Amino acid sequence: MNAESPDSISMHGKVDGAAEPAAGNDRLPDHVAIIMDGNGRWAQSRGLPRIEGHRRGVDSVRMVSETCTELGIEAVTLYCLSSENWKRPKAELDFLMQLLERYLVEERDLIMKQGLRLKVIGRRDRLPASVLEEMDKTIEVSADNPGTQLVLAIDYGGRDEIAMAARSICSDVQAGRLEMDSIDEETISRRLYTAGLPDVDLMIRTGGEMRVSNFLLWQLSYAELWVTQTCWPDFSREEFNAALESFASRDRRFGGLSGQPVQSTFGET
Ligand code: IPE
Ligand code: IPE
Ligand code: MG
Repeated sequence: MNAESPDSISMHGKVDGAAEPAAGNDRLPDHVAIIMDGNGRWAQSRGLPRIEGHRRGVDSVRMVSETCTELGIEAVTLYCLSSENWKRPKAELDFLMQLLERYLVEERDLIMKQGLRLKVIGRRDRLPASVLEEMDKTIEVSADNPGTQLVLAIDYGGRDEIAMAARSICSDVQAGRLEMDSIDEETISRRLYTAGLPDVDLMIRTGGEMRVSNFLLWQLSYAELWVTQTCWPDFSREEFNAALESFASRDRRFGGLSGQPVQSTFGET
């Protein structure tokens, strides 16, 4: 079997075939985060308007969510719009909002069929009411689904999220609901949009840029990084599989030494 074939990691995350990395369930990421970049360049290199790249990117979203749910990956977070993307021309932003709304309506049946649970992270106050309405509808109908949590980061900024958590902590301290000395990493994690989700294990960026662009700054703390030159509309199941296989072969030390059991920070001695 071709090591890069989409079937090289089976439904349960086990790899069969000697040429492939030893990936069991424990070698699959619990949480994959993806910076879906390069849509504009994909389109422009074909003489098409940038928005065509965004439109074609929906196929890759479908492929990734389907693959994650087949493999039993707990959560996948997709960067759809950053808080900095509002700097773009109005026409592109209008198109992105329309595309998002259409995705939420047209993919609802598939989301249900695949058993995905939709969650959205980021600011709500700058999004059109029609997008929020479709978003909330899909979140509600998919809430009890058993599959992968599909997290869409829309108008999301990592620094903005941390500032929001800081405001919430200060207000609880001020009101006497929280002791300042008790504030620890958990206190912050619990106040982020991603509360309850595992930290990101694998962060993929398409389009070749070697930066995080304000994505999940807190949650990426010990994520393994995987960057490809491939633009998002061309990101294939084979390449996603290659990223998962690379992840499976990484030596994650979390500041410790190779082969040591993973301990929580400042774990008991
Ligand atoms: C990513 O693709 C999608 C969004 C930011 C909405 P880009 O639109 O950034 O594409 P490039 O990076 O300009 O090619
Ligand atoms: C990151 O891509 C945001 C999304 C993919 C939604 P950008 O294209 O906005 O990132 P920069 O500007 O190249 O850092
Ligand atoms: Mg870009």
